[in-house]
Amino acid sequence: MPTISINLKNANYDVIVEQGAFTQIAEHLKPLKISGKVAIITDSNVGPLHLSALKEQLASITKEVTSYEIPAGEASKSLSQIEATASQMTQQGHGRQSTIIALGGGVVGDFAGFLAAIFFRGVPFIQIPTTIVSQVDSSVGGKTGVNLPEGKNLIGSFHQPNLVIIDTQLLATLPQREYQEGYAEVIKHAAIRDADMLAEIAALDALNQQPPTDLIARNIGIKAQVVEDDEHETTGVRALLNFGHTIGHGIEASVPYGTLLHGEAISLGIRAALYLSEKKSNLTASESAQVLACLAQFNLPLKLSNDIKTSVILDKLKSDKKFVSGSIRFVLLKQLGEAFVSQDIDLEDIVEAIEFLRS
Ligand SMILES: NC(=O)c1ccc[n+]([C@@H]2O[C@H](COP(=O)([O-])OP(=O)(O)OC[C@H]3O[C@@H](n4cnc5c(N)ncnc54)[C@H](O)[C@@H]3O)[C@@H](O)[C@H]2O)c1
Ligand SMILES: [Zn+2]
Repeated sequence: MPTISINLKNANYDVIVEQGAFTQIAEHLKPLKISGKVAIITDSNVGPLHLSALKEQLASITKEVTSYEIPAGEASKSLSQIEATASQMTQQGHGRQSTIIALGGGVVGDFAGFLAAIFFRGVPFIQIPTTIVSQVDSSVGGKTGVNLPEGKNLIGSFHQPNLVIIDTQLLATLPQREYQEGYAEVIKHAAIRDADMLAEIAALDALNQQPPTDLIARNIGIKAQVVEDDEHETTGVRALLNFGHTIGHGIEASVPYGTLLHGEAISLGIRAALYLSEKKSNLTASESAQVLACLAQFNLPLKLSNDIKTSVILDKLKSDKKFVSGSIRFVLLKQLGEAFVSQDIDLEDIVEAIEFLRS
């Protein structure tokens, strides 16, 4: 059973990665010595599938478990949903001694983590992530938050979990498209920090929704290193995780919500960033080809539809915080596994890369 320890200035916690860990939850929670009430937060897709099994197990630790199901989807990451859930929790007797468990993907994790950060000025919280994105990325690092109508993740807090329990078996119920889109972040991790992992990804069966626990643990290890080097996003190391995300976000924001999943837009963003890494840095065409082959293997798009206009993407990009501040900070690769933030990318380069995506 791989267990990864996350060691930060003011927080240390374990990430347990184990096939079947979900059926041993009570055992894994024992060291935390939970004494108060437990609030499980899940969403309307995950709840019907996995909530009752979790409640059954928690019954052996505490009699005081309540659960809250938020509507599935990004729209639930809102202050009004936070207020509604906090009110319900309070009415059901939750307070300073409570522990919050997040059971779901990144939406539930960000939402429940933020609620845990502010409920009675902060209560402990445990992540049980159920998507690829949340298992390899969002459950670790302590970024929590909700959206404003003006933009994503604009209200939030750093609040580290006390424990993360990752069971790859939970991925079996994910719709195939949601399963595959998560690999954009896995492939991104390989590109920026772990070139050897590309071979491991290439050997996977994209239809078998049971990735090896070692692969998940390896990704958590990469995220952990980056977070340990730059917990509060001040040294620039954490910015490397934005590889593929500058143009990717612009494309994601240019289409009606839900047309392109996040990982699908990031796949296009990665292809654009590879193109610019070849043009402006030393990346070779064969290195790019290795990354592109992995994206294709998971059915991730590599070609931009002509219905999405470059001018619209540029408008979305310009409203991005990274642009307003003057020079563009763009993550490029020197070689596979080695990323850096370049100041040498201008708007013309970006237009060229977007046009390249149409070929
Ligand atoms: N905090 C961070 O560091 C960080 C990092 C990356 C992303 N995020 C955030 O994560 C969110 C995206 O997370 P996501 O991709 O996991 O999306 P998500 O939480 O919306 O989950 C995707 C879909 O799959 C469903 N689902 C989840 N697990 C399932 C399962 N096991 N079986 C069946 N259905 C399941 C959900 O209900 C949802 O419909 C975004 O809000 C993003 O901002 C945060
Ligand atoms: Zn992402």
